[in-house]
Amino acid sequence: VSGAFVEKYGPWAMIAGASEGIGEAFAVELAGRGLNLVLVARREQPLNGLAARLQSQFRIQTRTVVLDLGDAALAEKITSATRELEIGLVVYNAAQSFIGSFLAQPLAEKLRIVDVNCRGPLILADIFGRAMAARGRGGVILLTSLAALQGSPLIATYAASKAFNLVLGEALWDELGRAGVDAIACCAGATRTPGFERSKPRGGPTPMDPAQVPVEALAALGRRPSVVVGWFNRFAAFVMVRLFPRKTAVTIMGSQARRMYAG
Ligand SMILES: NC(=O)c1ccc[n+]([C@@H]2O[C@H](COP(=O)([O-])OP(=O)(O)OC[C@H]3O[C@@H](n4cnc5c(N)ncnc54)[C@H](OP(=O)(O)O)[C@@H]3O)[C@@H](O)[C@H]2O)c1
Repeated sequence: VSGAFVEKYGPWAMIAGASEGIGEAFAVELAGRGLNLVLVARREQPLNGLAARLQSQFRIQTRTVVLDLGDAALAEKITSATRELEIGLVVYNAAQSFIGSFLAQPLAEKLRIVDVNCRGPLILADIFGRAMAARGRGGVILLTSLAALQGSPLIATYAASKAFNLVLGEALWDELGRAGVDAIACCAGATRTPGFERSKPRGGPTPMDPAQVPVEALAALGRRPSVVVGWFNRFAAFVMVRLFPRKTAVTIMGSQARRMYAG
């Protein structure tokens, strides 16, 4: 347990979308570094199971908040659930996704992606970023994706929502950074999470271990506006953004998505 880490980002961290996959990996990593945890997700049982496990393993305090991050009253509900806690680090991990053609997805589902993936992080960054800036310390980590680096057919709305997080997180690195608060957009590639497995991809890159994501995100926090996790993903991002024309990059994303998911 690092005293300096707890002083900068403690005593409480919030993980929005905490009960499995990358969110759970953040919870384990942050508990190991001595932070108390507010764990947010919709399903109560896995959330409480994780909280009990971390509490006994790392002797930290936890609070579970059963809440849909797409809730219309998110700002009020998250404020009242955490009112007396000093939250020094927020990780916005949850994401809603849909794989399929743009026109096949009902508009209501697209708007739900915007609520969970864009409106949610915006609200949390505003509420907790404001409190952190007033204290002159803290951190905000927004999860994004390699899909955010160019138009991504068959996951168009999801990818665009992740671009929102990439651009927002980078700007906050500068703005909040001036107030002593570290912000970063953390770009994951294929990662072996329950959500990833449920999407039943065929082929594609070998998924990473979720535990790698928090380790690399925390190492980069405060140092860079954004980080791509994993050397293979950094290579892929470099090729897609710096070497290929946009047209080629979008077409490659489309043919990969069709190979992995269509038919
Ligand atoms: N896995 C990958 O291959 C991959 C690749 C690139 C980027 N990413 C990014 O990494 C992040 C995490 O991905 P992931 O695969 O671990 O899983 P995920 O399915 O995005 O999120 C899982 C966690 O978030 C909670 N959650 C989901 N929707 C929620 C909602 N509306 N309200 C409250 N909690 C919600 C889930 O619990 P409940 O179901 O109980 O609510 C669960 O704890 C996402 O931002 C994603 O875009 C993942």
